[in-house]
Amino acid sequence: MTSKELRKIFLDFFKKRGHAVVPSSSLLPDDPSVLLTTAGVQQFKPYYTGEADPVKDFKSKRTASIQKSFRTSDIDEVGDESHLTFFEMLGNFSFGYKPGEPVSPNGGYFKKEAIKYAYDFITKELNLPISYVTIFSAKERSFIIPTDEESREIWKALGVSDVREEGMDDVFWGPTGNGGPCGPTTEIYCRNASGKDVEIWNIVFNEYFFPGSREELLSGVSGKKLEPLKTPGVDTGMGFERLAMIVQNVPTIFDTDLFALTIKALPAELTDRVKRILADHLRGSIFLLAEGVLPSNKEAGYILRRLVRRSLVYENMHKIDPYIFNFVINLIIDEYSEVYPELIRSKDAIEAEFTKERDKFSKTLKKGVSELNKLKEKGNITASDAFYLYETFGLPYEIIKEIAQEKAISLEYGDFEKEFKRHQEVSRKGQEKKFGGHGLILDTGELKAATEDEVKKVTRLHTATHLLQSALRSVLGGEVKQMGSDITPERMRFDFSFSRKMTPEELEKVEREINNVISQDFSVIMEEMVYEDAIKKGAFAFFKEKYPSRVFVYSIKDNKGGFYSQELCGGPHVKKTSEIGKFKIIKEESVGAGTRRIRAVIEL
Ligand code: ALA
Repeated sequence: MTSKELRKIFLDFFKKRGHAVVPSSSLLPDDPSVLLTTAGVQQFKPYYTGEADPVKDFKSKRTASIQKSFRTSDIDEVGDESHLTFFEMLGNFSFGYKPGEPVSPNGGYFKKEAIKYAYDFITKELNLPISYVTIFSAKERSFIIPTDEESREIWKALGVSDVREEGMDDVFWGPTGNGGPCGPTTEIYCRNASGKDVEIWNIVFNEYFFPGSREELLSGVSGKKLEPLKTPGVDTGMGFERLAMIVQNVPTIFDTDLFALTIKALPAELTDRVKRILADHLRGSIFLLAEGVLPSNKEAGYILRRLVRRSLVYENMHKIDPYIFNFVINLIIDEYSEVYPELIRSKDAIEAEFTKERDKFSKTLKKGVSELNKLKEKGNITASDAFYLYETFGLPYEIIKEIAQEKAISLEYGDFEKEFKRHQEVSRKGQEKKFGGHGLILDTGELKAATEDEVKKVTRLHTATHLLQSALRSVLGGEVKQMGSDITPERMRFDFSFSRKMTPEELEKVEREINNVISQDFSVIMEEMVYEDAIKKGAFAFFKEKYPSRVFVYSIKDNKGGFYSQELCGGPHVKKTSEIGKFKIIKEESVGAGTRRIRAVIEL
């Protein structure tokens, strides 16, 4: 069975069982506390808590999806038989289950149905034997959540007798980010062609809500309480590549048809490990670039840069012709563009960014490697050496590990990160001093002190964000509310609530209105006031933000004494709108139900 057939069989199976098939959401989630989408459940979080209504959005309390996902936690493991950064996750979801009430064909369901669906899909639809399953057990820690006897009984009734108990670390999902739904899980293991049992499906019973991070939950000392969800639900996740490995009866995920062509196209003399790293990193880079992420020194851009640069280091080390990478990039885009058309749309940009990063990096790569070799001669590579190499030559952490080998055995990512944070702090303090110390200069997570030019670009885009919010409300109506934003010197991203795709005419109207305001050269005024007064004046506040009692309000005044825009904000902003330059919308897209994203740039 090909992977294309497998995707279809999965979605059809759940469609037949009342599930609305929902497209993958963006890899960049609408949740400021999460950097990248790590699971199918990310876009559905609000449906478990009652903040959003599944029947309104999907006409069903059941959904199924194939979600583009990205995890960096296993990046060091990539190169073995089963770890990846980017992967696809198959999932079925149920919201709003009412305990004790009968389950309707497209109503919310819970343990019994979820386990039965998974069992039927694996053993009947795909004809695969289940090796064993796991359930949540309370015994390891004296935790407030009881052992999941109900799931044990359901599995037994289906004839699965090997039911193993695991604890909080393995079979308790979530919450992601700063809080959300979470609960015990049950996992399915199947055997691959080399006789190894591999976890393929994780079925989460979202019964609880935790108002903090997973770390806070596990530490048990945050003082935050695990609360029961009024309407429990189900969230499942099945790693697509792993499932394909089992279905196609091959020993590793890299032997599936998802990777076969890529691996074949890479030079035969490379080791399996290097081929796998390249196959993973090139694919991951392509998907991040297609979302508009650009290599940078912060957040998602930094993850992308690590993937691209690590690939380029191998290219350099093994003297691979750059033509080969371009060939593989095209191969991957062709392979996936049927399912993810955004890849084909961004094809030229992806290639161009890759080449740009190669040009940028090759200059420093040689110097960095020779500096690293010098340090190696002196002794072991410390976290501070590693940070120096990163900051001065742009050598990513993994590359330093890779090249230094036994001289970097005691180098750990946590220590490198600490060094990173220390410098970040110093650089932030420096910036605050330089710019008068009020409010946000650049988004947090910025690593290096920004150049003056970068600060100017960010400032223009900051003010343009305010214009965009007002223009959207004027063209689309008051329903529009800011859901998030992200600004880099190159571009801005603005997420807002709106229930449908914008028409080309609406986009043009918004763009025209903004450029009109820019050309009228309105003044931007900052006032400090008490929070309540600002709200009374009608200034927009970003509902996700917690504001201090005294706030800054930025107003963009029209020439008749009124306001075009008024928002609570830390700045910085331009003084006159004409400083902004020409505003241009690049893209409008969905990032989950009811939320749209606009990407825009300034053309000078
Ligand atoms: N959200 C669950 C996971 O990613 C299903 O494992």
